[in-house]
Amino acid sequence: MPRLVVVSNRVPVPSPKGSTATAGGLAVALEAALKSHGGLWFGWSGKTSGDREIEWLEIRDFGNVTYAVADLNRRDVDEYYAGFANRALWPLCHYRLDLTDFSRKDMAGYFRVNRSFARLLAPLLRPDDLIWVHDYHLIPLAAELRHMGVKNRIGYFHHIPWPPADVLSTLPVHDTIMRGLAAYDLVGLQTDYDVENFAGCMVREGFGRALGGNWYESYGHRFQVGAFPIGIDTDIFVQMAEEGLKNPIAKRTKESLNDRDLVIGVDRLDYSKGIGQRIEAFSRFIEMSPSAKGHVTFLQITPKSRSEVPEYADMQKEIAELTGRVNGQLGDVDWVPIRYVNKTVSRAALAGLYRIARAGLVTPLRDGMNLVAKEFVAAQDPNDPGVLVLSRFAGAAREMDGALIVNPYDTEATANAIGRAISMPVEARRERYNSMMPKLREHDVAAWCRSYLDVLSQATEPQSEGL
Ligand code: UDP
Ligand code: G6P
Repeated sequence: MPRLVVVSNRVPVPSPKGSTATAGGLAVALEAALKSHGGLWFGWSGKTSGDREIEWLEIRDFGNVTYAVADLNRRDVDEYYAGFANRALWPLCHYRLDLTDFSRKDMAGYFRVNRSFARLLAPLLRPDDLIWVHDYHLIPLAAELRHMGVKNRIGYFHHIPWPPADVLSTLPVHDTIMRGLAAYDLVGLQTDYDVENFAGCMVREGFGRALGGNWYESYGHRFQVGAFPIGIDTDIFVQMAEEGLKNPIAKRTKESLNDRDLVIGVDRLDYSKGIGQRIEAFSRFIEMSPSAKGHVTFLQITPKSRSEVPEYADMQKEIAELTGRVNGQLGDVDWVPIRYVNKTVSRAALAGLYRIARAGLVTPLRDGMNLVAKEFVAAQDPNDPGVLVLSRFAGAAREMDGALIVNPYDTEATANAIGRAISMPVEARRERYNSMMPKLREHDVAAWCRSYLDVLSQATEPQSEGL
């Protein structure tokens, strides 16, 4: 078994006590995947250190995983992370042309940091390592490694949506991005729909051609493209939820509800998550259902995210104001409709909170997969499960047919779905839960990891054209 080398911008290095508290699907999934596989995890430490160029790594072992992380300087963080990755690629991949801000300076910083990462990583590599690069921050990494003579198999997984050609082509350097991806041996996306979009970008824009099967040729290199929908650590999550009420946060929450029904939302504070639209829908639901007034509480857990990016700072303000307005208008002396919490909650506490909730609201405007949707279902009590209200624009909607699927732009319909979820008879809830659980167990994070790495490690190029 070759060593697995995982590379991602965000690396949740455990604290000396062995614990990490992370909000973000990539870190959560890779933590689970690496725990079973072992290997090296390389990336950014998350720390900003003055003006120093990236030149050294901190390397530490925890269990079977070696963490190798580097600090970035202020300019790198501004241009590479907050700039090109999160003001150009992120909004673009989430179809938000209105929020996409392209700057050549940021783009240069993005390529510079990728080159620096490649320089630090190359000496750590062994000839038979399998290298797996994650997410939009690191698209050029394989090309940089190839320039340095690295011959290993290198795969890329894109955790977020892949946009259609018309959207991608608005990015002035989209050809360079596509060229960067062509240096990999396998490009993994979340859903078939993303694969369709990706292939469309390549073929329609003239960057490559389909060879048949999953194979493509682009910029003189043959590589595979496939959908690998990411999963959660289902059994562990089920177990955490079973013990959930022992968790002090979940216990305190349950006591504080005084038998009111709980509706829950859990998202990083990100405009892709549709939090504003969800609050409007919940508010509409309360207005439409007099019996819910005073009897249903919506808990929205929203850790702050990427606050250095202006669009995120604006959004923090907007959501806080909206929540205050709804609570002021609809609340009463003994009831606050929305409990809005801006901090990261541990997954053990989340498991307990999901379990006591009657409904989970996962209503992104666009999302690669959305692990919260899967966690919410896995955490339910099989005898008395809550109901998932899920946006049709989350990758998870393609698998989770037992959810109430909504269009998050449709406030009335989402409000109706919340009402349906809360009043649904137990038989119907069980049926929905039972239709989703086998898939969550079968397609868990270990299966995701296995299926991707099998394709990456066994790939043999097609011998003749037009296979
Ligand atoms: N999460 C967490 N604590 C929080 C909020 C979120 O541990 O306070 C976790 C959550 O359990 C999930 C991940 O962060 O595993 C979020 O992943 P998702 O795919 O839903 O969204 P992303 O943040 O990656 O866009
Ligand atoms: C999403 C992205 C990840 C990212 C995470 C948290 O899940 O796909 O790449 O790590 O959000 O965002 P952050 O900017 O804090 O790493």
